Amino acid sequence: MRKSLLVIIIIAFNSCNKTNSEAKISDSMNSTVVNNSIEQKIDSLLEIMTLEEKVGQMNQYNGFWDATGPVPKKGSQAEKYADLKKGLVGSMLNVRGVKQVKALQQIAVEETRLGIPLIFGFDVIHGFKTITPVPLAEAASWDLNIIEKSAKNAAEEAAVAGLNWTFAPMIDIYRDARWGRVMEGGGEDPYLGSKIAVARVKGFQGDDLSSSKTIAACAKHFAAYGFIESGREYNTVDIGTSTLYNTVLPPFKEVADAGVKTFMNAFNELNGIPATADTFLQREVLKKDWNFKGFVISDWGSIGELVAHGYAKDLKQATELAVKAGSDMDMESSAYVEELAGLVKEGAVNEKLINDAVRRILRVKYELGLFDDPYRYCDEKKEQEITGKKQFHEDALDIAKKSIVLLKNDNNILPLKKQGIKVAIIGALANDKTSPLGNWRLAAKEGTAISVVEGFRKYSGNELQYAKGADLVIPNTEISMTQEVQVNTTNTSEFGEALSLAKKSDVVVMVLGEHGMQSGEARSRSTIDLPGVQQQLLEEVYKVNEKIVLVLMNGRPLAFPWAKENIPGIIEGWQLGVESGNAIAQVVYGDYNPSGKLPMTFPKSLGQVPLYYNYKNTGRPVRDGNVFWSHYSDETNDPLYPFGYGLSYTSFSYENLNVEIVDTHEVMVSVDVMNTGKVKGKEVVQLYIHDEYASVTRPVRELKGFEMIAIESGKSKKVEFKLTEKELGFYNNKGEFLVEPGKFSVFVGGDSKAELTNTFTLK
Ligand code: BGC
Repeated sequence: MRKSLLVIIIIAFNSCNKTNSEAKISDSMNSTVVNNSIEQKIDSLLEIMTLEEKVGQMNQYNGFWDATGPVPKKGSQAEKYADLKKGLVGSMLNVRGVKQVKALQQIAVEETRLGIPLIFGFDVIHGFKTITPVPLAEAASWDLNIIEKSAKNAAEEAAVAGLNWTFAPMIDIYRDARWGRVMEGGGEDPYLGSKIAVARVKGFQGDDLSSSKTIAACAKHFAAYGFIESGREYNTVDIGTSTLYNTVLPPFKEVADAGVKTFMNAFNELNGIPATADTFLQREVLKKDWNFKGFVISDWGSIGELVAHGYAKDLKQATELAVKAGSDMDMESSAYVEELAGLVKEGAVNEKLINDAVRRILRVKYELGLFDDPYRYCDEKKEQEITGKKQFHEDALDIAKKSIVLLKNDNNILPLKKQGIKVAIIGALANDKTSPLGNWRLAAKEGTAISVVEGFRKYSGNELQYAKGADLVIPNTEISMTQEVQVNTTNTSEFGEALSLAKKSDVVVMVLGEHGMQSGEARSRSTIDLPGVQQQLLEEVYKVNEKIVLVLMNGRPLAFPWAKENIPGIIEGWQLGVESGNAIAQVVYGDYNPSGKLPMTFPKSLGQVPLYYNYKNTGRPVRDGNVFWSHYSDETNDPLYPFGYGLSYTSFSYENLNVEIVDTHEVMVSVDVMNTGKVKGKEVVQLYIHDEYASVTRPVRELKGFEMIAIESGKSKKVEFKLTEKELGFYNNKGEFLVEPGKFSVFVGGDSKAELTNTFTLK
């Protein structure tokens, strides 16, 4: 039976010897029932909490079912239960489903002295059970409404499973395709990344956090995790202030302003200081300058890892450094629960810091409505009804098709005819019902994605045959979040069957790429080509039938220059979640006209990495007849496909780029966009600026506006953009935001190489 926290506190009070001051709190608590603010309730609660209970609120344990990181030595089920009963746990992660949540919440609420409810966190990264496209794919839609909708649905489905909090969105900006976690974010650009970050936070949190359909979001990883050296997971980050302020921090600032409830710090060090112990980031920037009122959680075990970083001599010092730096909650290091009370008692840590952290945590719990009803998220009947509901699937399909990017369409090989042709589908991924779910889908069932083969059968009446060609993954090896994927690099024995099928078909659809578990956390790669024997398979098939549509499935940019050169049709099909095959079939057969645009530059070769569109000009940007300019001897500087790139089954032209300065720091830009093709289509109109000279050098191009428009064939639309201080300015190396006078160029078009240009000069 449910007990309200207030009752429990009062009972706890009555069972102690009341001092005068306690009696006063008790009185004030009674009056809080009707009208006191959350802050006053927290004051009252803090006064009756023991130091150990406060520290308990700052402790998060992993549940007993799944692990998303190395499991610490301490942490047997029995030990965790014991701590839970003592009120030494404030939160749990990786607990899923109403039954599990309820069982643990019951202990917290009914068996601990104060009955403070737990907050349950989970990595709801792209859907909870109904898996939507991986976040990088969704970013390719450039459609903020559907990105918000996706997060909203995920929140609802997670909330009915008893969860209150997602460790998402990941809003790290990154430029290195080797890093496995690029699949988890919004791409390489701080402007697009900020817009997507805010949309996701809005989706998860809604307008009312106490609604049983919303959950708290978590902006992660604070900060600069996306800049790990050489894309190698957990590696060192060493970047300058300009990159920090202008590229890394903007999305975090935006979501702090938009009211995100929590932040997660990061595994990496930043310029010699591990982010978890970085006072500048967490206390000065986040909590002071940005006035963030929520709480900061460490990353998994990252407080304990301060020792391995060489920043703390032992767990005790790590605890002291982390808490002083502003890490409010400890995920799975058992550092706070073991060391923090002792540190306070010996005077090394001021209890005020503990009170501040606990206040932040309790505030979020209050805002979630957990104190009103700790089981508000625990309704098994609703869980049954809502999980995997039809609407979620319809939305997942909509999001998936909008995330697809058409990269090449020579001689209009696409869309394919729906009847009367013989279609061969080749590639292990085409028939895979798990890989398209991607990584970070702990709560989903394996094998629940619609495969490409299934999607094609549904959307066309063609004669369709499938041949695997080759395994991508060595058969019977374990594929899970915690194991390396074993790729087949030798076995070509099934090529023959694929080749004879290709030979007798009118068109070949080859589905190639990475397994869904080849990207994600701890999935860095030292190559970014098609893994295993797939490139070889592609070239062999091409020898017998050149009419190929290549459908790529991957969680990171891949380099496929040969395919770009030779294959007439290329579609970027990412890992699109449960509706993958349906979405791809709709695009291939023309039921949906693609409108996605790459949120990350695709390099030609690994040697170019990190490659990104908003680079600096250098002092020697152009060839001047000799070798002394910024270039490679054996490769051009151009990408395979630039940021913002994506085709449609129609075409667009841009003209009349007008620029008008309307105020000191306000510029209006307008452009006419015409649909010059034969069918209706959608275009993401992109605006880039170049601040030509400044006190800190600015990139050659910076995205500062975009708008998605739908235009009928032969019609045109005027699109207007307003550039204000926010778009025109930048941060100097002291972290000050400036708008400087001088000349700017504007470029508008369908990708970051847009050629239509104009200029203006700010006074
Ligand atoms: C990841 C976080 C994640 C956490 C909990 C860590 O390994 O870096 O992003 O939220 O695990 O699963």
